[in-house]
Amino acid sequence: MSRITTRHFRKSKLEDRKLVMVTCYDATFARLVEQADVDAILIGDSLGMVVQGHDHTLPVTLDEVIYHSRAVARGSSRTHLVADLPFGTYQAAPDIALENAARLMKEGGVQAVKLEGGEEYAELIARMTRAGVPVMGHLGLTPQSVHQLGGYRIQGRSNEAADRLIRDARALQDAGCYSLVLEGIPATLAAQVTEELSIPTIGIGAGAACDGQVLVLYDLLGLDERFNPRFLKKYARLNEVVVDALSAYTDEVRDGAFPTLANSHH
Ligand code: KIV
Repeated sequence: MSRITTRHFRKSKLEDRKLVMVTCYDATFARLVEQADVDAILIGDSLGMVVQGHDHTLPVTLDEVIYHSRAVARGSSRTHLVADLPFGTYQAAPDIALENAARLMKEGGVQAVKLEGGEEYAELIARMTRAGVPVMGHLGLTPQSVHQLGGYRIQGRSNEAADRLIRDARALQDAGCYSLVLEGIPATLAAQVTEELSIPTIGIGAGAACDGQVLVLYDLLGLDERFNPRFLKKYARLNEVVVDALSAYTDEVRDGAFPTLANSHH
């Protein structure tokens, strides 16, 4: 079966059907995500935090995103795959950006790339889309700019910042983005952008009016009991399930209850 394409995104907006996206970084979870009928997987550079244990996404390399994308591609067959261009792989020069986007598609097996930033990337995005690279934009709280923003803070609160974000959103649409992630902005601003654009918006911490939602897989599964931001809903408490299972295994190995004869070859 072929994968969900960028056309599905536009059609979903036209038909007022919400888009569902989650991040994913490996084949096992990709298989489960696909069973849950999710529209799109983002191989996000959030892997730098939830997989690698960094405080931010900046250390993630293109080779690492390619590695994880290949694993996700092997574990799925129908879900739309979009991967992050990591920090430093698209800012320096358009030629390098295009080469890196092509590597993500050719070697990583994804259908589209995501990059963070507004109007200043319109020219680059236009060039990428002309070259056959579908681009998902990302505005608001853009994690690759965490040091510039002074931390993970809600964006677009002042009238001036809100106007700038709306201008950026229009520029990204005009440049050819097929969808736009809105992260960490007031719900009213996200609603205004969603109303204005013909491409779908996908929100995270941006309220209910967006055309779709995205969450980090490990967050929505509740794998980290220390991470409880306001925008997050945990649909499971897998940290408890995992620790309980590992504790039971530990106890049984130590007291000789595992393996039994049934777990042994004869
Ligand atoms: O890397 C990521 O997981 C993201 C989402 C939070 C949108 O960019």
